[in-house]
Amino acid sequence: MSERTNPERNLALELVRVTEVAAIAASRFMGRGAKEAADGAAVDAMRHQLSVVAMDGTVIIGEGEKDEAPMLYNGERIGNGEPPHVDIAVDPIDGTTLTALGRGNAIAVIAAAESGSMFDPGPCVYMEKIAVGPDAAGAIDVRKSPTENLHSIAEAKNQPIENLTAVILDRDRHAELIKEVRTAGARIRLIPDGDVAGAISTAWPEAGADVLFGIGGTPEGVITAAALRCMGGEFQGLLWPRNESERNAAIDAGYDLKRVLHIADLVSSDNCFFAATGITDGDLLQGVRYERDTARTQSLVMRSRSGTVRLVDAVHQTEKVDKI
Ligand code: FBP
Repeated sequence: MSERTNPERNLALELVRVTEVAAIAASRFMGRGAKEAADGAAVDAMRHQLSVVAMDGTVIIGEGEKDEAPMLYNGERIGNGEPPHVDIAVDPIDGTTLTALGRGNAIAVIAAAESGSMFDPGPCVYMEKIAVGPDAAGAIDVRKSPTENLHSIAEAKNQPIENLTAVILDRDRHAELIKEVRTAGARIRLIPDGDVAGAISTAWPEAGADVLFGIGGTPEGVITAAALRCMGGEFQGLLWPRNESERNAAIDAGYDLKRVLHIADLVSSDNCFFAATGITDGDLLQGVRYERDTARTQSLVMRSRSGTVRLVDAVHQTEKVDKI
């Protein structure tokens, strides 16, 4: 019999409580047209729950710089201060507009990884992204055209391109990309927002997606890298300044705009944890559902070192959870 190693702590199993309360708080604002209020409620709930997690966390990807973000700002220390020391990436709502309009696929997300291992995007707001699940890992290159990538993804999956579904944010900047993917023959899921869930969908067979293409937020890119690191997928990004001043700010801060950022550049530690809870119903996760006294949540809970992916259904007593 092979020798057993001691089981390690899975921080994600504690972090899921954080995304659950954030999702519940945000879901109270579903369809109410109040983006800021939804975000504020999710941030509040997340921060409150984080204070009891046994860790010494530093927010690397948060709500922004301290001046604009009173809570979960970049550099904030969170957790109860005990080891382990970890870098934290949070997105209390990925899809604030989706939540405000009651549209699908809004999620609450958190990722943690060994201290010093997360990429700090600094002034770089956007990045060009490509993401695939494990069965097409090794088949992508963000520097190549969408057509070339679709061909090699199709080959890796042993399927015709016509069977593939590409997820793309519905933005004017993607007009050429969409045209090219259509010409190549793949199907497209145009999403109004939420490219973290869109990218994770490519690694979650039930979600029916094969590749995510396009330009989205850099913070969301780091969070996606943490998720795909756990799932064995692949992600690549290129920083994408919108104008000359963003380009200069990135270069002045020492960023190399030509460098392909792989998962290992964005989250360099293999000791990485991820949790996400559905706020509104989506391709990946069910949103928060209410019954008379309870709220039901559905979450993904993952750890990279073991590669374990858990789908966690939880029932919460609303009277108690609403007070968090
Ligand atoms: P928010 O929840 O912060 O609104 O972000 C949603 C989102 O769609 C992200 O998933 C995506 O990376 C980014 O916005 C795209 O940015 P933009 O809306 O400026 O194109």
